[in-house]
Amino acid sequence: MSNSPKSRTLQLPFICTIILLVSACEQSSQQPPSHANDSKVDEISEPTNDSNMVNRFEIGEELTEQVLKGWDIDVRPDGMGLPKGSGSVEQGEIIYDDKCASCHGSFGEGEGRWPVLAGGVGSLTDERPTKTVGSYWPYASTLWDYINRAMPFTAPQSLETDEVYALTAYVLNLNDIVDSSFVLTQQNLAKIEMPNRDGFYADTRPDTLNPRCMSNCTNLSQVTIKQAISGITPEQTDLMAQQTIVNGSSDELLVIDDENTNLVGKATYTQACASCHDNGLAGAPVTGNKQQWLSRIAGGTELLYRHAIEGFNAMPAKGGQTAIKDENIRNAVDYMVLLSSEIPPQNSNN
Ligand code: HEC
Ligand code: HEC
Repeated sequence: MSNSPKSRTLQLPFICTIILLVSACEQSSQQPPSHANDSKVDEISEPTNDSNMVNRFEIGEELTEQVLKGWDIDVRPDGMGLPKGSGSVEQGEIIYDDKCASCHGSFGEGEGRWPVLAGGVGSLTDERPTKTVGSYWPYASTLWDYINRAMPFTAPQSLETDEVYALTAYVLNLNDIVDSSFVLTQQNLAKIEMPNRDGFYADTRPDTLNPRCMSNCTNLSQVTIKQAISGITPEQTDLMAQQTIVNGSSDELLVIDDENTNLVGKATYTQACASCHDNGLAGAPVTGNKQQWLSRIAGGTELLYRHAIEGFNAMPAKGGQTAIKDENIRNAVDYMVLLSSEIPPQNSNN
């Protein structure tokens, strides 16, 4: 049996060969194959032996140096990619007034809702920052590249190289980065220091690496869980309201809105317990899983309270948030028990 796959693969070409021979014989017995047929076969089976795929498949077109140059226009912060050229602030002003001011304003302030190009330095931490070339951009090369690539908006890549240098110089001048006698060149562009050059840096926080801890790991009871649902920015107002409830600083919030919902318990649970008990982290019994809670609930609520408040095996005291009042922990336990039992128990927290 172990031979059979091999013999099968050998059989297939063999059968094909026979079929080919038969059909060839048939053809030759009726009429000689035409010449036209011959050349077609040659064309397909014989690869052209130059390495040019374009000729071989007859699709696309050859990439010429000239075409490539049209695409390869990016300029790097170190000045790499800049073409030879230069332009002064003075020259830039004239071109700018002609081709840019109608949208970006005479001084880069922006007409209507067109983008602002100047000012806004120091506003980045405001609630509504003004992000401009001067306040935000880390490199002058980006300005050169942007203008060269995309501006004016209605006629991108219509500017001469020297015009791009002049306009870049002028926009830098509008931002007080160079003075009005400045001449920008291929050589000095990379040396320009932008105000926000240090505002961009590599994020070295470890959350993307997330290496597994194998020794001397953080004690779970000392971990404060700030947000139970990962990947979601907490709603500021909700969080504050919740904190007020959980920390019990506002007594009028300590209400039970109807016989089935325990607001304090729910809020405490969401803040301090859900991270483990929603999904069984660290072996926590899953809230709502009646099977997992059956025997625990049978042991009596007082014991559950004590374990939740003082801690129990991998269950940290108060879920690690020791500032929470005992009473609120009891509410959270009630809430969990309610969701995890067949018959809602009597509310034991009066
Ligand atoms: C018809 C209006 C118009 C004209 C004219 C125009 N721009 Fe723009 N410009 C825009 C718009 C719109 C954007 C934003 C494009 C985007 O975000 O996709 C922009 C963006 C820019 C930016 C980037 C701003 C930023 O902070 O993101 C610069 C720099 C710029 N233009 C320079 C120029 C220069 C220099 C000229 C003249 C050669 C010019 N623009 C002419 C409309 C215009
Ligand atoms: C860091 C994870 C974690 C957090 C946060 C956490 N628990 Fe637990 N919890 C556990 C684990 C693990 C167990 C199971 C312990 C065992 O049975 O060995 C458990 C068990 C329990 C039990 C059952 C105890 C028993 O006697 O069977 C209760 C009740 C409980 N937790 C309540 C809470 C409450 C209330 C909070 C929030 C204030 C909370 N837990 C937060 C991990 C956690």
